[in-house]
Amino acid sequence: MKLLITGFNGFVAGSVIAHAKGNWEIHGIGRSENPIDEPGIYYHNLDLQDVQGLSSLFNEISPDAVIHAAAMANIDVCQVNQEMAERVNVGVTKMIARLCSEHDVKMVFCSTDTIFDGIKGDYVETDLPHPLNFYAETKVKGEQIVLAASPINVVARLALVMGLPVIGKGNSFLADMIAKLGKGIEIPFPANETRTPVDVITLGSSLVELAGNQFGGIIHLSGNTKINRYQMGLEIASALGYPINLILSIDSNAMPGRAPRANDASMDNSLAKKVLTTPMRTLAEGLNLTLNFKI
Ligand SMILES: NC(=O)c1ccc[n+]([C@@H]2O[C@H](COP(=O)([O-])OP(=O)(O)OC[C@H]3O[C@@H](n4cnc5c(N)ncnc54)[C@H](OP(=O)(O)O)[C@@H]3O)[C@@H](O)[C@H]2O)c1
Repeated sequence: MKLLITGFNGFVAGSVIAHAKGNWEIHGIGRSENPIDEPGIYYHNLDLQDVQGLSSLFNEISPDAVIHAAAMANIDVCQVNQEMAERVNVGVTKMIARLCSEHDVKMVFCSTDTIFDGIKGDYVETDLPHPLNFYAETKVKGEQIVLAASPINVVARLALVMGLPVIGKGNSFLADMIAKLGKGIEIPFPANETRTPVDVITLGSSLVELAGNQFGGIIHLSGNTKINRYQMGLEIASALGYPINLILSIDSNAMPGRAPRANDASMDNSLAKKVLTTPMRTLAEGLNLTLNFKI
């Protein structure tokens, strides 16, 4: 069975590769260097906006499932580069959904908890999205495209992802945090943003499971701990033995020039617990897992 992963050099994809290794023939699409040179893993250097290139590659690989993890994932960058964000997060998703549909291939799309407005919290899969920023708007459009393309497709709404990169780099706040704390640099964390962070190891395992199982539809991949990001910063710093006075409390919605953030985007993970064999974890369990994970 062949698994095609986009965003191959990214943070989430690294854990997906680690969990698919050995059970799937892995094909990855990325734009920089091959992050892993191992038998059974094939790297394809391609900008996903190249429609012709993507279509030919899809025909050549003929995957059995696709995990679409590539995106412009920086909220503030999307807010000021809306045309590009629309092309990458919506246009590319549309193209991949079309190719998957034409080839009768299951597509797992990485969406986000920030599609919610953060007023209610504890969101379940049937709650309606109400995006507050352009990144979230593109993800809502992506979700609609993927769900309309086929009932076997999956919209996996990822909570804030916590962990160390397994392969490659990508946007790991934990790696940045450890580097800064090690140098005694203060780090601001928003106390207004409540989340249910999911560790990257649990997430990679869940996404691979979803690529290979019978589930179709929306699923929330979030951890068991509901916590604001400032408190999360304190708990992680304390668990790692760094001085907690380096963790500063801020209000992300009071900072000029930033895109609006959802205050309480916590997600209920009852469905994931029912559908998946991968267990959902607490923040402490996830931290322990990511710090000790060996590929
Ligand atoms: N990390 C989180 O906390 C989080 C939370 C919720 C949802 N998500 C979603 O989960 C997915 C994975 O996130 P992540 O944290 O792994 O992000 P990431 O580390 O930024 O990885 C995204 C990857 O997409 C690639 N990409 C972007 N545009 C591309 C293009 N036109 N052609 C080819 N590759 C392209 C990037 O390549 P370059 O490096 O070359 O730009 C990057 O390697 C994303 O869809 C994100 O929206 C993430």
